[in-house]
Amino acid sequence: MSKLEDIVSLCKRRGFIFPGSDVYGGMAGTWDFGPLGVMLRRNIMNAWWQFWVDSRDDMYGVDAAIIMNPKTWEASGHVATFADPLVECKECHGRFRADKLVDGATESITDAEFLKVNPKCPTCGKQNWSEIRKFNMMFQTHVGPVTDDSSIAYLRPETAQGIFTNYKNVVDTIYPNIPFGLAQQGKAFRNEISPRDFILRDRECSQMEIEYFVRPDDWEPQFEKMLEEQHYFLEQVIGLPAEMVHDLEVPAEDRAHYSKRTIDMMFDYPNGEEELMGLAYRTDFDLTNIQHASGKSMEYRDKVTGESFVPHVIEPSIGVERLFLAVLTAAYKEEDDRTVLKLPENLAPYKFCVSPLLKNKPELVAKAKEVYQMLKDKYTFVTWDDSGNIGKRYKKQDEIGTPKCVVIDFDSLEDDTVTVRDRDTTEQVRMKVGEL
Ligand code: GAP
Repeated sequence: MSKLEDIVSLCKRRGFIFPGSDVYGGMAGTWDFGPLGVMLRRNIMNAWWQFWVDSRDDMYGVDAAIIMNPKTWEASGHVATFADPLVECKECHGRFRADKLVDGATESITDAEFLKVNPKCPTCGKQNWSEIRKFNMMFQTHVGPVTDDSSIAYLRPETAQGIFTNYKNVVDTIYPNIPFGLAQQGKAFRNEISPRDFILRDRECSQMEIEYFVRPDDWEPQFEKMLEEQHYFLEQVIGLPAEMVHDLEVPAEDRAHYSKRTIDMMFDYPNGEEELMGLAYRTDFDLTNIQHASGKSMEYRDKVTGESFVPHVIEPSIGVERLFLAVLTAAYKEEDDRTVLKLPENLAPYKFCVSPLLKNKPELVAKAKEVYQMLKDKYTFVTWDDSGNIGKRYKKQDEIGTPKCVVIDFDSLEDDTVTVRDRDTTEQVRMKVGEL
């Protein structure tokens, strides 16, 4: 099993991910994506969009504003309930999530349960704790030049609400047949008490969410179908090994306030099994709350039967960073004398690396440039490397997950063949340029 420190180190060394605001000593819970990270991240997000929206007839996209009317978060229940249990060490004043200090505890941990274990403070080792209090995780800001209570707004803690608030607009403009889904990708912000495990728990993350609107009596089959499709996406499209993905039926007391059924899809990350994504049955909770708060009808009128009803919702929700880390965890391998990212070809930042055997031989460089341009025209994601020796170039390309390295040597000038080295097997074959 790969170690998290090794993945973090590779990410920094090869330009995938840097600590946020690194130059100023960082900003806890934030991360910046470098050139390679941006490419991998886009490939993951594009694969999601392609699978869930572009290839289907029942899914549509929206892209809502991050700062929404604060009524949104009152109606959704986030102002009242989007909170984690916070304890403070009375000795060193360190603040922690109470449920993370007690093995097997959940977010609903009580003072009695906490004090029964009475854990040591991770910072100073003392056992002198405050009472648990609920800490709301939404980031507050003020909109406009006046900073009083009337101008309070929030950075969205989930992309979902930007979908629900547009449900009526979409229904009234494109008249989709039920069941249908609205999908969104974008930033979400949570003032996590303890960001941790690299990009697993961040204060600024990106979500990819679908609200799938169904008839109230149809939710169970749609939920099962969505679960199956999620497995297909994670395992066949993204290439995660099926044995590393586990379903966890979330008990009622641990479910979010809006959910009547949730399955968390867990993944074997380097530091243990953690939630990769959630699949929730949100009932008509959000639409009826919006209906009450806005005074506008959220009913859907079935064109065939003429019935009107407020749809129920199945919501698959996944964090881009968690999927990114799952992809890296599955791909990262240490073998004999090399480290390699065995990324699926559809996700690898570069598909080919092209090099001349020697960079000081103009005829080799010219031929290699020709091959490079040909591949670039065809596959776009092609990189050029003439630094160091061939061994070093292979080492670098292995670490960034490039599936094929193409090397142009003196024979290439004679017979138009090149050496193609496979990242996973390290085997090299000779082939004609035209066959690449
Ligand atoms: N709209 C439902 C919702 O937001 P959630 O379980 O709170 O549900 C959904 O979040 C997904 O978003 C999680 O399964 C995870 O992949 C991602 N996520 C949530 N909080 C995160 C954080 N602090 N850092 C990174 N990803 C996070």
